[in-house]
Amino acid sequence: MADITVRKIRFSFDDPFDFEVSDEQLGSMLGPLALSMTMPYLEPYLIRTMKVALKQIADPTLAEDVRRFSQQEGHHFRNHALLNDQIRGQFDEAAADRLRDIEKDLEADYQRFTRTKSLRFNLAYAEGFEAMTCAMALAGAEHGTFEGDMIPGGEIWAWHMAEEIEHRTVAFDVYRHLVGSYPYRILVGTWSQWHYVSYIRRFAACMATALGRKPGSPRSAVGRTALRNYRRTWSPFYDPAKIELPAGVQELLDRYSAMAA
Ligand SMILES: [Fe+2]
Ligand SMILES: [Fe+2]
Repeated sequence: MADITVRKIRFSFDDPFDFEVSDEQLGSMLGPLALSMTMPYLEPYLIRTMKVALKQIADPTLAEDVRRFSQQEGHHFRNHALLNDQIRGQFDEAAADRLRDIEKDLEADYQRFTRTKSLRFNLAYAEGFEAMTCAMALAGAEHGTFEGDMIPGGEIWAWHMAEEIEHRTVAFDVYRHLVGSYPYRILVGTWSQWHYVSYIRRFAACMATALGRKPGSPRSAVGRTALRNYRRTWSPFYDPAKIELPAGVQELLDRYSAMAA
């Protein structure tokens, strides 16, 4: 059984963002803010998928992991919804409406996937997303990117990324238990990553246009580590259970356990 703790935490988002930064720093800010915008749609979609999967999971230990995974994702998207209110509030009404239009498109996609796609597809999507974000979260943890005030939103990032690492095995284990096919994982997983990243680009471009800026693309050590981690997910021998936690992740998890209690 995975060691997953459900932490009910609500962060508050009061500090205004400072967009008066270099083009490269702006590029580093808009990516995470765009990611936040997707969460109230992506994470409920994962939860709906797992709810359907639960009916078919024969292993009670895996079923408990799935329940905890879904509860963690539930707390994640509720906090991101609060952060997103603040993000929209940083822009004028016209730009906030354009962000809302993208949100509607994304929600329509995910509702359609739940309604019309097979469980096999939705599980491969979930694993594609989880594998990609775990690769990013591990890189962020290794380089200390999610701590400090580099990204607007404060501690939501360290908490969310630490829990993504904590529950990294669940979507993979459910996929292996109910589907299993390696080529299908790569095929739909890669498509899901393209689909998801295309929305990250839309949100980020919308914010950049509203600011009248051209953000630089950050080429950093953390990006290279994330890419290396991501490439490993393509291996037929990939298993997130084999990943060793970078230094500091357990301390973060303990910190947020104490905060939730
Ligand atoms: Fe999450
Ligand atoms: Fe997750």
